[in-house]
Amino acid sequence: MDQDNDNQEHMTEGEDKQTLTTRQGQPVKYNQNLRTIGSRGPATLENYHFLEKMSHFDRERVPERVVHARGAGAHGYFESYGKVGDEPISKYTRAKVFQDAGKHTPVFVRFSTVIHGKDSPETLRDPRGFAVKFYTEDGNWDLVGNNIKIFFIRDAIKFPDFIHSFKPDPITNIQDPRRQFDFVTQNPETLHMITFIFSPWGIPANYRHMQGSGVNTYKWVNKDGEAVLIKYHWEPKHGIKNLTQEEASEIQGKNFNHATQDLYEAIENGDYPEWELFVQILSDDEHPELDFDPLDDTKIWPEDQVPWYPVGRMVLNKNPDNYFAEVEQSAFGTGVLVDGLDFSDDKMLQGRTFSYSDTQRYRVGANYLQLPINAPKKHVATNQRDGQMTYYVDGAEEQNPHVNYEPSGLDGLHETNAPKKEYTPHVEGNLVYESIERTNDFKQAGDTYRAFDHTERDDLINNLVSNLSMCNKDIQQKMIDMCTKADEDYGRRLAEGLEQHTDRATESEAVREADQKGHRTDSY
Ligand code: HEM
Repeated sequence: MDQDNDNQEHMTEGEDKQTLTTRQGQPVKYNQNLRTIGSRGPATLENYHFLEKMSHFDRERVPERVVHARGAGAHGYFESYGKVGDEPISKYTRAKVFQDAGKHTPVFVRFSTVIHGKDSPETLRDPRGFAVKFYTEDGNWDLVGNNIKIFFIRDAIKFPDFIHSFKPDPITNIQDPRRQFDFVTQNPETLHMITFIFSPWGIPANYRHMQGSGVNTYKWVNKDGEAVLIKYHWEPKHGIKNLTQEEASEIQGKNFNHATQDLYEAIENGDYPEWELFVQILSDDEHPELDFDPLDDTKIWPEDQVPWYPVGRMVLNKNPDNYFAEVEQSAFGTGVLVDGLDFSDDKMLQGRTFSYSDTQRYRVGANYLQLPINAPKKHVATNQRDGQMTYYVDGAEEQNPHVNYEPSGLDGLHETNAPKKEYTPHVEGNLVYESIERTNDFKQAGDTYRAFDHTERDDLINNLVSNLSMCNKDIQQKMIDMCTKADEDYGRRLAEGLEQHTDRATESEAVREADQKGHRTDSY
């Protein structure tokens, strides 16, 4: 039935397709004034259109993401190269998205900042989220990454504490370096990430000029059911650009949406952002030869020990039509994998995998996967039913409508019969509450510090000093000790910076006191 024509036929004189209606389809006659007793009121309760209009408005927001609330998104495609170095990629993974050179898979990407709210400035010092949803022929695959290749902590149980300490103080509602650096100095594994975040790498110039990384260790599985460990990295075709604190403050004074605007305008102008996807591959074992554990997400897998291989590229060529429906309601998760891709035992990854869909059932609703942005672009057939906002029955045509369970002999859905060699890792050990052995918290923080150029080091020290100067002596000393363990020069410069800052502060305090007494000193 052609609904538009059918409705048009029934339109009353004076109405057309642009006539405002309620959600129930009734034409609206009065949209300027409430129905009131006399022109000065009071209003009456049977103002049905008003009540519907206002109560929908009252529900226009869903809870924002608990982290990564501020974001921008775009659509595009991923193109596979079909190989790893000179070898066919099928040697390592049977995931269809990677097979066949030139194969295109649609993607949706959401970039974000982490700590502050949905409308916070995009110039803040923070990791940037880089979440990619691949709508593959085998169902959806989400690669939920950040711009920096490592993370602050290595065990998921610490995530709520870490985030609490970086979020605003629960009393003042102000982000407080005393709380941040209290957590940091109690958890020395954070130093490597802190070294990146307090340098210009903590404020990427925009979303187009930043890298991305899966951060956690994943696995690839081939047709023989054999697995390797994998790290993913996105390299921007347009190069990397970061901001010093001074540059960021300058932008923030004029435009706090600069990254969203940059992404949107680049795509509108046909200057499509592009990244190349690289992987690092290690055999699936503990690698005792390395001075870190390959499942530790506070460590980079050094490129000279574990080479990078390009496996595809991604182009973003379409802006969302509806920010709320696509960007705000999009839901990514580390559990969203397809055949040929798998989890590793990385403890952060395992914890994350519970958290994402749990929060999304709360944030968006139990049926969040029926929303077009989250639904796979392939056939779906499940026995999941009902719940808030159920819109349709997945796979209704294929199924006897009376059968919403499995197994059944009455034309219900059934398990796949596709012949696949399962990957069945052997796991053995005592259940314990223990950290990994090779923590090695400081070496790579030192490597990263030494790899920075002068501007990056100067900005890092300045930013640390200005934040740590608000902390007590005990926290300052612990930070100096940690930085010294990473690199002597790093610790020395931080100590000197803090000392100079204290001298300057004491001097200005003396000047203030002298001023108050009416004898101004020359040193001001
Ligand atoms: C978003 C939890 C670590 C990257 C989120 C959200 C939660 C969460 C609850 C909000 C999701 C939503 O409302 O849709 C966690 C937990 C972690 C963890 C529990 C550690 C145990 C990480 C790490 C990365 C990361 C290591 C980087 C690889 C992201 C990104 C988003 C996000 C990019 C935003 C996704 C989007 O754009 O919708 N995380 N996270 N998270 N997380 Fe994590």
